[in-house]
Amino acid sequence: MLTLVKTTLLLAAFLFWVVPDAEVPQYTSAGELQRPEHYREWVYLTSGFDMSYNPPMQMEGHHMFDNVFVNPAAYQAFLKTGTWPDHTILVLEERGARGKGSINQSGNYQGALGGLEVHVKDEARFPGKWAFFGFGDGKAGKLFPQSADCYSCHAAHAAVDTTFVQFYPTLMPIANGKGTLSSAFEKDTAIPAQK
Ligand code: HEC
Repeated sequence: MLTLVKTTLLLAAFLFWVVPDAEVPQYTSAGELQRPEHYREWVYLTSGFDMSYNPPMQMEGHHMFDNVFVNPAAYQAFLKTGTWPDHTILVLEERGARGKGSINQSGNYQGALGGLEVHVKDEARFPGKWAFFGFGDGKAGKLFPQSADCYSCHAAHAAVDTTFVQFYPTLMPIANGKGTLSSAFEKDTAIPAQK
């Protein structure tokens, strides 16, 4: 009996040690997503600067960065297959740009965290396999309903499986090579036929 308990404890300790933290999406009982606390230790995909989906209407002197990270297991799977496995967690953080500080004379660097948005693939849980969550300061993120424009824009314009791989420079060549680009994206970038 004692050996069984010991073995179980050892196995639990081993699993805890080898399975990286928050590699699997976790939810509260209210269906909110638990904040992926250690995403800054995950794989870095890109930084967008002042990217906007609408014609420019930037506030004078106000600039934004966004940084995208993904859990390491999903990144490794993408390298092999050119697409995302179940339990992919993509995190987009927004940071205000700063210009004046320390020795900086020109250009911009990143300031405090603004918002955090997460795109999760959880096939058994979500009808469209993927869902979006938005975080404030708290530990739990609210689900954006399927009717939110997040879903339609990502479905209509993103290069791979509703994610914007066309802007993730280490992944785009992989997707190209493996032929996993979405038909929506191919249509977006197709050269219009001559009239
Ligand atoms: C009109 C198009 C559009 C809409 C609407 C939109 N996004 Fe995105 N989203 C983008 C683009 C473009 C990127 C790539 C950003 C980059 O390269 O830095 C992106 C990237 C992301 C990422 C990084 C992972 C991925 O899927 O590529 C997350 C997370 C994300 N968006 C969340 C949201 C959420 C949440 C909403 C709704 C509240 C939303 N987006 C609405 C265009 C859109």
